[in-house]
Amino acid sequence: MKTKRMILAGGSGFMGGLLASYFEERGWTCVVLTRQHPQSDRELRWDGVHRGDWEACLEGADVLVNLCGKSVNCRYHPRNRRALMNSRLLPTRLLGEAVAEAHKPPELWIQASTATLYRHTFGDPWDEHGDIGAHPDAKDAFSIELATAWEDAFRDAIPPGIRPVLLRSAMVLGRGNDLNNVLSVLRRLTRFGLGGKMGHGHQYVSWIHEKDFCRALERIIAQSELVGPVNVCAPNPLPNHQMMRILRRRLSRPVGIPAPAWALELGAFFLRTETELIIKSRRVIPGKLLAGGFEFEFPDFSRAAEDLLSP
Ligand SMILES: NC(=O)c1ccc[n+]([C@@H]2O[C@H](COP(=O)([O-])OP(=O)(O)OC[C@H]3O[C@@H](n4cnc5c(N)ncnc54)[C@H](OP(=O)(O)O)[C@@H]3O)[C@@H](O)[C@H]2O)c1
Repeated sequence: MKTKRMILAGGSGFMGGLLASYFEERGWTCVVLTRQHPQSDRELRWDGVHRGDWEACLEGADVLVNLCGKSVNCRYHPRNRRALMNSRLLPTRLLGEAVAEAHKPPELWIQASTATLYRHTFGDPWDEHGDIGAHPDAKDAFSIELATAWEDAFRDAIPPGIRPVLLRSAMVLGRGNDLNNVLSVLRRLTRFGLGGKMGHGHQYVSWIHEKDFCRALERIIAQSELVGPVNVCAPNPLPNHQMMRILRRRLSRPVGIPAPAWALELGAFFLRTETELIIKSRRVIPGKLLAGGFEFEFPDFSRAAEDLLSP
């Protein structure tokens, strides 16, 4: 049987590492497009802006996954806003041009997007038909602008005949110490006694266990009816105060100093990040995956935390 091949543009980071390990264990060949000096045979250099020899890897590949994007964990001043936008739009347009000219392009293009697109809410959870847009309380105007432009660039770039999937992913929780693994940050804060509720603590947190994230991609690949936006998140988002309580219990830290809104603003300034990443209420559910019968191994945060925080 022919070995399946996955191209991971921007696959040198957190999500790419998870996906490459998961699919390689299952017999796939994964090729990572990176702007860095290649570290292994599986990595191929490109610059994310210009056409080049790297395009040959697209010929006959089964799946293209585009994960390119500067981390949103930074201050949103004008220079970073430009970099956040360009790092998503330019590689997407470039891949679109390359795929359009390939003789045998991948049948499926999975494009990273974000569950942050959905409106800040304390009401019913949003599935793929949920409201999209910014809310002043969430301070998320730029994030929505960024995510909308990112999805629009993908819709403009993808040639007809290739199955388009937009991965509206919630934060992926993993075991490692990667900077983009939010669980590793929360684990450190909780160990230092700072694992109290954040702000008023009622804001919902959408999340997904790293294994379910990879399994969801496997399902998307297998189920050709899945097209367009797909929410990739656990079915049970929970309020921040509950999440922090579970973490304190798991890490045997009965006390966690809460962080009121003013402290979050101050902390975010010194840590060169934005409070939106914490205060926005993200209540998103995986409508399409559930409708397709996908079963989560870790549907509840307590089970996911138990698994990911065990030695
Ligand atoms: N982590 C999460 O929980 C989460 C949740 C929702 C959405 N997302 C989105 O999913 C994508 C992947 O997330 P991640 O956590 O794996 O991020 P990551 O670890 O920061 O990896 C992103 C990769 O994008 C590449 N990149 C950055 N700037 C680029 C540019 N200007 N041109 C081309 N490539 C560029 C980098 O690869 P090289 O430096 O090797 O070229 C980097 O390894 C991101 O776009 C992120 O916003 C992540």
